[in-house]
Order: sequence, then C-alpha cells, then structure tokens
Amino acid sequence: METAEIRRRFLDHFERNGHTVVPSASLISPDPSLLFTVAGMVPFIPYLTGQQAAPWPRATSVQKCIRTQDIDEVGKTTRHGTFFQMNGNFSFGDYFKEGAIEFAWDLITRSQDDGGYGFDPAKIWVTIYHDDDEAAALWKKVADLPEERIQRRGLIDNYWHTGQAGPGGPCSEIYVDRGPEYGPDGGPLVDEDRFLEIWNLVFMQEEITDVRAKDDFRVVGDLPSKNIDTGMGMERVSYLLQGVENMYEIDQVYPVIEHASELSGKRYGAEHDDDVRLRVVGDHVRSALMLIGDGVTPSNEGRGYVLRRLLRRSVRAMRLLGFDDPALPELLPVSRDAMKAAYPELESDFARISTIAYAEEDTFRKTLQTGTQIFDLAATETKQAGRATLAGDTAFKLHDTYGFPIDLTLEMAAEQGLAVDEEGFRRLMAEQRERAKADARAKKTGHGDMSAYRQLRDIGATPFTGYQELSTDTRIRGLVRDGVGVPAASEGEIVEVILDRTPFYAESGGQESDAGTITADGAELEVLDVQRPIKGLVVHRVRVVRGEITTGQEVLAVVDPEWRVGACQAHSGTHVVHAALREVLGPQALQSGSYNKPGYLRLDFSWGQALGPETRSEVEEAANLGIRRDLPVSATYMPLEKAQEIGALALFGETYDEEVRVVEMGGEWSRELCGGTHVAHSSQIGLVTLTGESSVGAGSRRVEGFVGIEGFRYLAKERTLVSQLADMLNVQPEQLPERVSRLVGQVRDAEKKLTQMQKSALGAKAAELAASARDVYGVWLVTHEMDEGSTADDLRSLVLDVRGRFGNERPAVAASAAAGPNGRPVIVVAANEEARRRGVTAGGLVKAAAQVLGGGGGGKDDVAQGGGTDASKIAEALGEVEHVVAETVTRGS
Ligand code: SER
Repeated sequence: METAEIRRRFLDHFERNGHTVVPSASLISPDPSLLFTVAGMVPFIPYLTGQQAAPWPRATSVQKCIRTQDIDEVGKTTRHGTFFQMNGNFSFGDYFKEGAIEFAWDLITRSQDDGGYGFDPAKIWVTIYHDDDEAAALWKKVADLPEERIQRRGLIDNYWHTGQAGPGGPCSEIYVDRGPEYGPDGGPLVDEDRFLEIWNLVFMQEEITDVRAKDDFRVVGDLPSKNIDTGMGMERVSYLLQGVENMYEIDQVYPVIEHASELSGKRYGAEHDDDVRLRVVGDHVRSALMLIGDGVTPSNEGRGYVLRRLLRRSVRAMRLLGFDDPALPELLPVSRDAMKAAYPELESDFARISTIAYAEEDTFRKTLQTGTQIFDLAATETKQAGRATLAGDTAFKLHDTYGFPIDLTLEMAAEQGLAVDEEGFRRLMAEQRERAKADARAKKTGHGDMSAYRQLRDIGATPFTGYQELSTDTRIRGLVRDGVGVPAASEGEIVEVILDRTPFYAESGGQESDAGTITADGAELEVLDVQRPIKGLVVHRVRVVRGEITTGQEVLAVVDPEWRVGACQAHSGTHVVHAALREVLGPQALQSGSYNKPGYLRLDFSWGQALGPETRSEVEEAANLGIRRDLPVSATYMPLEKAQEIGALALFGETYDEEVRVVEMGGEWSRELCGGTHVAHSSQIGLVTLTGESSVGAGSRRVEGFVGIEGFRYLAKERTLVSQLADMLNVQPEQLPERVSRLVGQVRDAEKKLTQMQKSALGAKAAELAASARDVYGVWLVTHEMDEGSTADDLRSLVLDVRGRFGNERPAVAASAAAGPNGRPVIVVAANEEARRRGVTAGGLVKAAAQVLGGGGGGKDDVAQGGGTDASKIAEALGEVEHVVAETVTRGS
C-alpha cells in the first residue's frame, strides 16, 4: 500500500468519525520553545492545555515532523529518520480512552478491502502505563486482547510529554509482531525490533513543569479537560504494509536511494558502510527538501544550520560512495517526485527550493575539495605518529581557511577512528577573535603591512602602457619582501617589484594578470603574478631566475605576446557571451562576476533557473555569430555620467572613478565599463564554446567555456570521442543516441533475465539439495559449498529455501558456505523449529563452524551467519556442522 494511500485512509477514517481534517503545520514550529515541529500535537498545544478554546472537539492531521537529535545515528541503525510524518487524532475534552482505543483498533485491524490497514489482530501487542487498569480493561473489552499481550511499563516508556513544560499524560502504545525472524518472543518488553511500535495513544490529562528528564518532572495538576493526542508513525506503517525492511525502503524514500545507487554504482544491500551512506542520502535529501519547502534556508545557526548539515552530510555521503559530481541536481528531483503526491506544493515551488539547495552544494563542494586533502593528510600523519587525536590547530585551520564546520571535522575524524582536540580548537578560535580585534585597531591607526607599498605609491601611480605596447623600457622603483622594502634581490629569490611604468596587466575586472619577463643587464625575472594591493600601485611578484637586481636599475618589461593574445580573446569572449546571454534571455540576465584567462572564461549572471541544453546552444550560437560579424572593438574614456547615459553596463556593487573606460563591440550590441585588454575585431576571438552551466547561489547562474584555440581543441576532443564510440559500436555518429539507448535497454533486460535465472537456478539447486538431505540421527541435514565469490545474501537465500522445503514435520538444518567475493569464507545456517526444539540452533552451529574457519559468528537460533579467514577449511567447517548436530541430538537422547 502506497504511503499516500495510508495517509488517505487515516484521514478518511477519522473524518468519517467526526474529526475535522487539519492540514499539516509548518516544520518551523509554531511553538517558540521548539526549533522544529517534533510531533503531531505541537500545533494543538494551546488547545490541549486549555489556553485557547479548541475550534473543534475532534481533529485529525498528518503532520510533517523533524527530529535531529539522533542525526548521527541515521542509517547506522534502521530506526532513525530525521523527517517523518505523524498521523494523529485529537480529542479536546470530547472522547477519551475508550474512543481512542476503539478508533485505533478499528483502523488497524479492519481489512484492506474495507478501507483499513488489515493488520492481523493476533499480531498486535500493546503497552500501558503501569497502574492504568482502566486502559487494560478497555483493551480487553474493545479488542479482546489477552492479558499477556497487554504489557505494563513505567514513566520512561509510557508517559508522554514534549520535554518542555506543558501537557502530558500516560500513554498506551500499539505494537506489531513482525515474526520470529526479527527477534525473540515475549512482546515489546523483550524486543522492540521484532515488536515494532506503530501508534502511541496519549491520554493527555495533566499539566507538568520542571521537566528534567523523561521520568523527572513535576505535575502541576489536572488539565481543564481530558484530551486525546495520538501519533501513528506513518513511515513505520508504510514499511510494514509495503513488505520492506525499514523506513528507508518505503516508496517515499527508496527512489532516492535507488538513484544514488545507480549514480555511484554501489548496490544497496551489498556492504554495510555503503548502505549506511545510501540511507543517509535517502533520509537527508528528503528532510532538506521538506525544510526548504517550509522556508528554511542554510545558515550557520539554528534551523538553517540543521538544514546546512543535512545537505552537506548527503553531499559528502555521495562522495564517500564514489560519486563526485554535483549530487543534488540528480537526487532532489527524485525526492520531489516521491513526495509530491502528498505535498503538491513541492512541485510548484521547486524552482526556488532547488536553487537554494544546489547553491549550498556548490559552496560546499568548493570547501570540501581543498579541505578534504588537508584533512586526509593530517589524519594520515596523526596515525603514522601513533596518535589517536587530531590536533586542535588542524581543526582550526580547516575551519578558518576552508570553512569546515567543526562538526564535519569531528565526523570525518570519527570515520578514521580519530578523536579531535576540541579544547585546542576552541582556544585557537578565541585567540583568533582577539587577533581580529587587534587587527581592526591596527588598521585604524594606519599600521600594518601596507606601509611599504604606500611609500612607493606616494611617489606616484604606476602608468599602464599595456594597451599600446607589450614591451616597455622602465626602471625599478622599489623592491618589497614580506611587506618590507629591500634594496636588492638575487637569484632564486621571490620578491615584489614596483616599476615606474608597466605593460603588465594587474589582475582585475575578472581578467587574470599577465605573464612575461623583466630583464636587465645580466638579470632575468619571471613574472608570477601582478596585483594592485592599493589603488594606483602595480606590484609584480617575480622570481629572480638569473642575476641580481637592485632598486633604481633600468629594466625592460616584456609581456608574453602569446599570453596576451589569449588574454584578449578570453576577455572579449566574455563580453560576447554576456551580450549573447542578454540577447537570448533578455536584459535582466546581467553579469554579476567573471573570470578569464587565456583559453578559458567564466561568467556569473542573474538568472533564476538552469538553462536547458537548447537555451545554452542558442546562447553559444548568438555568441559565435557576434564573433563572425567581425564587429569592431573600441575603448573610449568618458565621464561616468555619460557612460551611464549611453547604457554602458557596470558591475553591480562596484565603485567606479569619475572618468571611466567604455569598451564597445559593434556599438551598443556590447557596451561595458571595463579596464581589460581586448582584441581589435570580434573575429579575432576565434571561437567560443560553452562547456558548463551551474548555479552559484540563489538567483545566480554560471556559464563556463573555452575560447580561441582551446575552444577548437575542446571540440576536436569531443569529435574524437564520438568517432571512437561510433567505431566501437559500428554505427554512424548520428545513430549513436539510438544505438546506445538500445544497448542500455538490452543490458537492463539481460540483467533482469539474469536475476530471474539466478533465482530459478537457486530454486532448482535448493530442491536438489533438499532431496539429497542426510539423516543424522533423525535430523535432515543439508551441507553445501557454494561457488567462490558468492555473497552472504546468496547463501542466506539458499539455506532459507532449503529449510522451507522441509516444513516443520521433522527437524531440518541447512548449512551453506563459500569463499566470499573478498576470498574470505562465509557460512550461513538455518534450522527449523523442530530442530531448535531438539536443541540444534543455527547460532550454535555457526559458532562451531566459524571457529574452524578461523573467525567468529553466531546469531539467532533460526538463521545465523558467520565467517573467518581461512577458505581452505570450508569442507572441514561443514563437517563440524554435521558433527555438532550429531552430538547435540545424541546427547539429548
Ligand atoms: N505526542 C505523541 C507522540 O509524539 C503522540 O502523538 O508520540
């Protein structure tokens, strides 16, 4: 039964019984003392306490909830989820215990054909508060439950409150018995995995305060009326009714896991660590989707921080699974599709939701890229040095330089079995705050590293000759090392050079600085970087390749002409792409930032949604048509006012001088305020090819591309790739898409067939093995060695199938072992009820066999699994199984 149907049946049932259907409140809790809505009753607290008169005597809802205190446990156990839905019915002074029990019992046990959930009444157990005889009597009366399936518990389990002062009351919980394969008998008192709580009926009757713990609070008195608050865990009911193992596998979550598994190539169910990550992804992507849907945005505190953690944890889990590309654009739409039946607003609001989520991933990816390397290095060093704690200054550096939240460092360290010196981290944080204050003071008084530059700037600004020439005779005005003026520098040194005038373009306006050389008598300098640390002063960072230089020396500054051609092409190319974007998308697609260097360009612009492939091609075409029109490029100086008058585009948030430089390409087709270097005619750009488009924050997109010869090389590489593929598949290039999609279809069909064949082969094998069972003192015994590379799952299916073929007439045991995919031996044993009655347990047999295999194992009486290190001992281990069976049954007789 789909989750949407479970929801519909719940609301229908209570509506038919006089309840008003109340829509879910926001995840942002209406109660200011709670960060999130943590239970279905939260929106009704004022009615439950009697603070406000309830608008209806009875209500029902399916409430979105978030609980994140167990976020670290998600996926590790299969019981924790951060987002869940609580189906509830509420009575405000109307019906009480009897009504609540009647409604619940009716819905869960009524047949599915008749609109209920169809749980078998014989499998239902309940718990009640220890002295609640009234509830016990009602369960007997209404549900005819036998005494032994009504269990009594104390405050911790069977008294419910929110953890804050407010309403509270004894409760009665309903459990479903999932069967002996999930654990021992004896009801929820014995095992809460086998007996799964699905519904909590709270008899809200007291006002409590001074809440210190679940069982430590003070009762103020009775509430003005006796109320009912119930909460059914929709995810739990879903997985029971969908016949899957846990909440991550239900229809609202599993598609995300499935897609994550396709993307990463990691099969769900194959390996525990990967399963944990896949479950983290399934859970967190959905929770983040729902939180953003309710208006939360990522930030560093409160709800925003929880959202940030959820998003970042899912991105990181994908990377750990081996998927390095942006993951959310793949996964979020899948989650939306799985949830939209119940929450249609996710679809209509998806542009906004996804923009926020993708921008967060983008930021985080950048952080991760650099930070992870630093982290790994530090972790390895720590381990090699035999230490178990990562130094506080590493955690601090990760935080300070790479924006790693301390939580992430803690998590990553824990994954490597390391602790983190948190105290050291906090001390460094405090010191840094102090330093920042001191710096601010220093700036005000004009001290700091800038003084050397300032002295040189006082002599005059550095004129830029690079618009007219690439080579300029000039003189070294000053040399600076580590913020201090020095008279000379010699071979091998890296130093900063200030010239009287320079043809070198300093990085600005998105254009990378020029490369080239500075030479003098017997000396050669390689220019590494050119910046303008203070207005008007150009500083060249150079390496002295040869000789020695001194202040005052005459030099020749030469920009690498190849570099400059590329730089001009890239910068003009950026203007062309900007114009093309505005031509195709409209004038609101305004540039907000850019970066270009020879062969490459990147441009950020305001735009709310992703450009589809067609739009991207259109932009690319418009740009290349602009290049082909061979538009003249001009640069004119004019007053800022005039430039604005003629509509020259300026960068938002930038401050400009009174006199500005306006670069035009084809007149008004492209007119921008710009200090960069450009080609003379647009055709000199050669070619622009766009390679990527992505989000860079809310409402902002980024296009990237190659320019000139690099553009050609990129296309040539793609062409080679296409012809290689075409050759490989023996088709014409244009037939590739069809051919590949056919192949993919065939592979899928083949995989399906293979699975079917494997299943039926396994079935046939099981039948054969069952037929060849040996009689060991009255026990049917099957021992079998499976092919190398078989997994524990394969073994388990086989032994369960074999055991099933014996029924329960006679004792039967099936054992199968194999060298697993990693070469290590695995064994799985199943024993039927009759065998267990004779004292032969699967757990006991596995324990004995695993010892032979040089390992351990054990487990439940009915099915158990173990393993070891020595695969050559498999036959001996199976022999041991037989031996132990024989010994056990003969000892008994
Ligand atoms: N408030 C109770 C719970 O959250 C029942 O709705 O379990």
